[in-house]
Amino acid sequence: MIIYGIGTDIVEIDRIKRAMERFPKFVDRLFTIEELAYLESKALKPQHVAGGFSAKEAVLKSMGTGLRNFKWKEIEIIRDEKGKPFVRLNGKAKDYADDNYIGDIHISISHSKNYVTATAVAEISIEKRWMDIESMLIGGNAEGRHCIN
Ligand SMILES: CC(C)(COP(=O)(O)OP(=O)(O)OC[C@H]1O[C@@H](n2cnc3c(N)ncnc32)[C@H](O)[C@@H]1OP(=O)(O)O)[C@@H](O)C(=O)NCCC(=O)NCCS
Repeated sequence: MIIYGIGTDIVEIDRIKRAMERFPKFVDRLFTIEELAYLESKALKPQHVAGGFSAKEAVLKSMGTGLRNFKWKEIEIIRDEKGKPFVRLNGKAKDYADDNYIGDIHISISHSKNYVTATAVAEISIEKRWMDIESMLIGGNAEGRHCIN
């Protein structure tokens, strides 16, 4: 595995709790239907909402970007059948990852009473790089053939 970048984040759970109370649309703005299904299975407890938010921020840092012109929902934190979180990118965030050869992004989340922390590790995708090199080589060969002919 070749590492593209790492990202870490810490969030005060109380800050998220207050945002949820003040802005009823807070969770809908941040999370996709699939993410919401998980959070609802946890009774929308602020510690889990904060975990999802913190994970998204950690992912943004691992890509070295910050939010830029991405949307929060383009960075999805999904769970596997055992509850392990994993990252799925969509839209502009996925385009950015593809353009920069970013492959899998691993994520880990932890909470204490007052804080949530998340760590992300983004891999370089050898496959994406190789596909680019291959298409460059094919392009080069085609040009070469053109010269010979
Ligand atoms: C990059 C970003 C994720 C930083 O998160 P933050 O919650 O604002 O701040 P944090 O304290 O967690 O992190 C700050 C650190 O991020 C790091 N950082 C800044 N830009 C970064 C980037 N492009 N890539 C990776 N890390 C970056 C820096 O080390 C910074 O610490 P420093 O200022 O001491 O150098 C943030 O700028 C961002 O884009 N956030 C999304 C927008 C947002 O949070 N809006 C508020 C909605 S409630």
